[in-house]
Amino acid sequence: MSVCSKTGLSKQQQERWPYLYRHLLEEIDIPDFNSVRENDIEKLDSDLKKLIKRIGDAKSKSRESLTKHLSSVIFRRFGKNAIVESFGSSVTNLSIGTGDLDLCLSFKNKTPQKVLRKLSGVLQEEGMDDIQLIPKARIPIVKFRDPRSGLDVDISLDNRLAIYNSMMLKSYAQEERLRRLVLMVKHWASRRGINNAFEGTLSSYAWTLLAIQYAQIVQPPLVPNRQENYTKRPLTFHGKTFDVGFDDEPYSTDNTMSLASLLIGFFDRYATRWDWEAMVVSIRNGAHVSTKEKKWEHVGPLPLEVVTGSDEGRMQHVMPIEDPFDHDHDLSRVLRAEGAMSIQDEFMRAIHMLSEGKSWQDICEPIFDINEEPEDLFHDLRKSSADEVASRLEELRTELEGVEKQIQELVEERQNSKELLELLRGGLQETRNVRSDRQQILSELRPLSLKVQELREVRDGINQRIAIPTKRIHQEMVRIFEKLTSEVDIFNAPTLGVERGYFAYFFELQAMYQASLQSNEAHQEFIRLRREQNQEYRALKKTRKQEEDVLVKLIENNPALEGVHLNPKSVKEFQKNAKLLQRSINQQYSTKHELRREIGRLEAWQRISSKNKRNQQRRSPNPTTRRNRRRPPEVNINEVRQKASSGDSISLNELDALLSKGGIASLNNSEQIKSKQKQRPSKKRTSGRIDIRQGRTRGRKQMRK
Ligand code: CTP
Ligand code: MG
Repeated sequence: MSVCSKTGLSKQQQERWPYLYRHLLEEIDIPDFNSVRENDIEKLDSDLKKLIKRIGDAKSKSRESLTKHLSSVIFRRFGKNAIVESFGSSVTNLSIGTGDLDLCLSFKNKTPQKVLRKLSGVLQEEGMDDIQLIPKARIPIVKFRDPRSGLDVDISLDNRLAIYNSMMLKSYAQEERLRRLVLMVKHWASRRGINNAFEGTLSSYAWTLLAIQYAQIVQPPLVPNRQENYTKRPLTFHGKTFDVGFDDEPYSTDNTMSLASLLIGFFDRYATRWDWEAMVVSIRNGAHVSTKEKKWEHVGPLPLEVVTGSDEGRMQHVMPIEDPFDHDHDLSRVLRAEGAMSIQDEFMRAIHMLSEGKSWQDICEPIFDINEEPEDLFHDLRKSSADEVASRLEELRTELEGVEKQIQELVEERQNSKELLELLRGGLQETRNVRSDRQQILSELRPLSLKVQELREVRDGINQRIAIPTKRIHQEMVRIFEKLTSEVDIFNAPTLGVERGYFAYFFELQAMYQASLQSNEAHQEFIRLRREQNQEYRALKKTRKQEEDVLVKLIENNPALEGVHLNPKSVKEFQKNAKLLQRSINQQYSTKHELRREIGRLEAWQRISSKNKRNQQRRSPNPTTRRNRRRPPEVNINEVRQKASSGDSISLNELDALLSKGGIASLNNSEQIKSKQKQRPSKKRTSGRIDIRQGRTRGRKQMRK
C-alpha cells in the first residue's frame, strides 16, 4: 500500500479523508465565499427551508410516551425516592428527529447501592435491547434501545448540570434562525457520521455550542451572551460549585442574515478562520478565550501524527470547546485522532461543496444507510391499482387480527404464569416454618447419625472378639474364683502350673467381662440414639407431608401446578418464564404498532385517491348531465311578466329570465307596477323566495336605468 511521503497517510487514509489530504498537499485552495453567487445562496436557502419543514421531531410522541413508561417503571422499582427528568434535544427544541432520548435519574435521599445494575435488570425485564452499562464514566450512564419505538435512550445518573445547560440551550433557541442553524449543523454532522462522542467524534451538544458561538460572534450578533447579564445561581454538585444562572428573558437581534448565509458563515469560520491552537470556543464568554489564558494549549501529538503512527502519545485540547457551566470540561476530550481527522475533512468538504454551489442534500449525503421516512409517504402506492391496495389492506388486516389474537393469548399466559408464581410464593411463605424446622432437624440428624454409627462399630467390634454373653462370663468368673479361693485338699492340691493357668484364665475372664460390659453400654446408648434418630426421621417425614399437603391444596386450586416442586428454584423458573413472555408480548406489540401504521397509511391513500377521482370527475363531467342538472327550470316569460305586473312574488329564476328579456322596463304597464310596488314594498323585499340582498340590488339597478 503506497504511503504519501509528505503526509504519511496510507492510500486508504487518503481515500478516507480526500479533502483534508489534498489540502495538506496544498493542492486545493481555501474557497472565497465572497464570490459565492447570490443565486446559489437563494437556492440553498430554499433547500434549507424545505428540509426544516420535513425534519420536525417525528418521534416526539414516542419520546413522550416512552419517558412516561420508563418513569413509571423506575418509580415501581425505586419508589418515590427516585426522580426522572428529561434533558437534551427533547427539551431544548433542537431535535432533528434522529436524536436519542436523554433522561436523568436522581434520588431525593440516598442513592441505592448498585443502582445502575438494578436499573439494567428492570430494563431487561421490560424487554429493552442492547443494554450497556457505563458505570465508570464522569456521569454514570445506562444506554439501551427501546425495540417498540426504535429510540436510543441514555439514562444518566444525577446529571444535574445537563438539566441546567439544556434549559439554557432552550433559551438560546428562542431565536428561530439560531434554532434552524443548530438543526442544520446537527443534521449535517449526523449524516456525515461526526456526532458521536462514544465513537471519538463530537457530541451533538458540542456541535450546538459551536453553532451558538458562531451566532454570538457574527456581525451583527444573532444571539446575545446569555451568561452576561444574569442572576447568579450556585449549584453544588459532586463537591464542586457551579454557577448555573443565565438570562432567560426574551431577546431580539439586529442581524437579518438568511439561514443560508449564516450556515455558509458557520462553515467558513470553523473550517478556515478559527485558530484551534490559540482559541477556545466559549459561549459563556460570548467569544473565544485564548488557550494560553485557559491553560488549554494543545498537548501531545497532532491527529495526523497519531493516525500515521509517527507518535502514539495522548492528545489533549485538540478542538477546545468549553462547557458553559463546567468551565474545566473540554468537550473535545472525547475526540480520537481518527474522529478529529474526519471532522477536519468534513469541514473542508463542506466549504468546497458550498463554494461550488452544490446542493445541501449533496453536502449532507449520508455516509451510511439511514432509515428515513421517504419524502412522500405514499411513494410506493402511486403505481399500484386500487384493487392491489385493497387486497394488501385485506392481508394486513388479517395479519393484524392474528397478531392481536397472539397478544391476547400471550397476555393470558403471562397472567396465568404470574398467578402460579404468586401461588407458589404463597405456598413457600406458608411452608417457611416447616422448612426451617426441617433444616433444624437435618442439622441435628447429621451428628446423631455419626454417633449411632460410632456406637455400632464399638459394640460390633467387641462382640466379634467376644462371642460369649456377659452372664456366661460372669458365671465362669465365679466358678474360677471359687476354685482359686476354696480350701485346698492337700492330697489333691493343684500343681503350680495348673494354679497359674486358673489365674491367667480368671484375668482373661475379667478383661472379657469389662469389654462385654462396655459393649452392653454401647448397645444401650445405640438403642437410645436410634430411638431418637427414628423420632427425628418421623418429624422429617411430617414436614414433608405438611409441604405436600400445601402443594396438594395449591394443585387443587390450580391443577397447572401438578409436578411442580415447592421450592425457590421453581419460583425462579416461573419468574424467568414471565420475563420471556413479556419479551414476546413486547415484540408482538411492536409488530401490531407497525401493522396499524401501515393499515392507516393504506387507508389514507384509499381516501385520498378516491377523493382525487371524484374531483377529476367533477372537473371533466359528462356535459349533458351537467347541463341537465344545472339548467334552470323552463320559465314562461309572459307568465312572469304578468306576475311581476300584478306585484306577485317571483322566483330567482323568473327574475333572471325577466331581466334578460328586457327587465322591468319591458312590462306593459310600468305605472301599474310602480304603484303596486309602492303599495306593497315590504312584501317584495321580504319574500322568502328571493335572496333579499341580491334581488334588491339587482332590482334597484334595473329600476334606476
Ligand atoms: N451533555 C452534557 N455534556 C456533554 C454531552 C451532553 O452536559 N458532554 C448534555 C447536554 O445537556 C445536552 C444533553 O446532554 O443537551 C444531550 O446531549 P446530546 O444527546 O449530545 O445532544 P442532543 O441535543 O440531545 O442531540 P440529539 O438530538 O442528537 O440527541
Ligand atoms: Mg440527545
